[in-house]
Amino acid sequence: MKGFGPVGSELACDGVLLREAAERFGTPLFVYSRSAIEEAWRAYEAAFAPVPHRICYAVKANGNGAILKLLAELGAGADIVSGGEMLAALRAGFPPQRIVFAGVGKTDEELALGLERGIGEFNAESEQEIRRLSRVAVTRGTVARVSLRVNPDIDPQTHPYISTGLREAKFGVPIGIAGDILRRSRSLAGVQVVGVQCHLGSQITDLAPLATGARDLAGLSRELLDEGFPLETIDLGGGLGVDYEGGAGADPAALAEHILPAIDGLPLTLVLEPGRSLVAEAGALLTRVLYVKENQGRRFVIVDAGMNDLLRPALYGAHHRVEPVQPRGAPRVEVDVVGPVCETGDFLARGREIELPEPGDLLLVRDTGAYGFAMSSRYNMRPRAAEVMAEAGVARLIRRRETFEDLIDTEV
Ligand SMILES: Cc1ncc(COP(=O)(O)O)c(C=O)c1O
Repeated sequence: MKGFGPVGSELACDGVLLREAAERFGTPLFVYSRSAIEEAWRAYEAAFAPVPHRICYAVKANGNGAILKLLAELGAGADIVSGGEMLAALRAGFPPQRIVFAGVGKTDEELALGLERGIGEFNAESEQEIRRLSRVAVTRGTVARVSLRVNPDIDPQTHPYISTGLREAKFGVPIGIAGDILRRSRSLAGVQVVGVQCHLGSQITDLAPLATGARDLAGLSRELLDEGFPLETIDLGGGLGVDYEGGAGADPAALAEHILPAIDGLPLTLVLEPGRSLVAEAGALLTRVLYVKENQGRRFVIVDAGMNDLLRPALYGAHHRVEPVQPRGAPRVEVDVVGPVCETGDFLARGREIELPEPGDLLLVRDTGAYGFAMSSRYNMRPRAAEVMAEAGVARLIRRRETFEDLIDTEV
């Protein structure tokens, strides 16, 4: 069996019984299905096979080295946003020329590190950044390959915090002035303009805005190619959403249908930067029930995972399915599934009808492979969770649980 689903009367992942994983590794525990990640990768590769393309996995979604190594071995590139992500991607085996470096606030040190390591493309987010990159590259006697991030002012119809391609967002440069910035940058020493890029936002389920973005960027690319810019890439970012309600998963084929017509005939390599759609559904958070209590008619299931482990519900009001690992056929009741953190915003699910669990029961919080562990913290001095990769009936620890010593390790 691939991914998460029942084996007999209990839930498993890639043939690993989750009850046994919890007993062996403790909870809270992030569990990933290797086969589900591979399947998601293959869906992207198949969908974009008709055109020259490079799928650069957005490391921010989940930077565990085992997941990075798996995707690097499958042939992915990487999309990074910090020096830390750069070092993690290189350590996992991504060839530097397959790495794109995004981010509005790259420091001189990060730019220098990227140049030193031969990063394939710097997605610059302002004219100032291109000039700074030029200066850093000249100092080091090298040339940076630059792609300009363009803000096309398109509403991706997603949560405002993860809408990045709207006029008022901090990302990129307005599309109307992108051409002029590149014309001025052309003569700068130490930089070579190789492409244009955009990223509209994350968890995009209505694909029409992505088609519009592709058309806008293709138009700009044509204009620049006509002027003799030696462009090589058109980078349309990531953003493909997943169905957190458990319906059909992310669909790269539908994405291809929406964006490929726009770039038809362009002599460029299509770069994509998917994060969530490659790993979200391949991961789940395993947590144990500590207490069940009722306050003023509201029923609370208190579990050992909190907002420090999975921030998305508290941050975005995000929905994650919660299921019993060993259903006992108890009546379904409306509950709030909450963590031990001292904030009322510390919830994993609110007003959710689930089978009433008992203390000691295990619950599975689904679709947490992306922006789960990656956004976790040590808030309330809670050590961060362990992570496990399941494959063909075997569970492999890919990150040990933190200890109290880890929490104080950097104090001086
Ligand atoms: C520049 C850039 N590329 C790619 C991604 C990945 O997006 P997603 O995980 O929605 O595919 C993000 C996410 O915020 C991003 O900012």
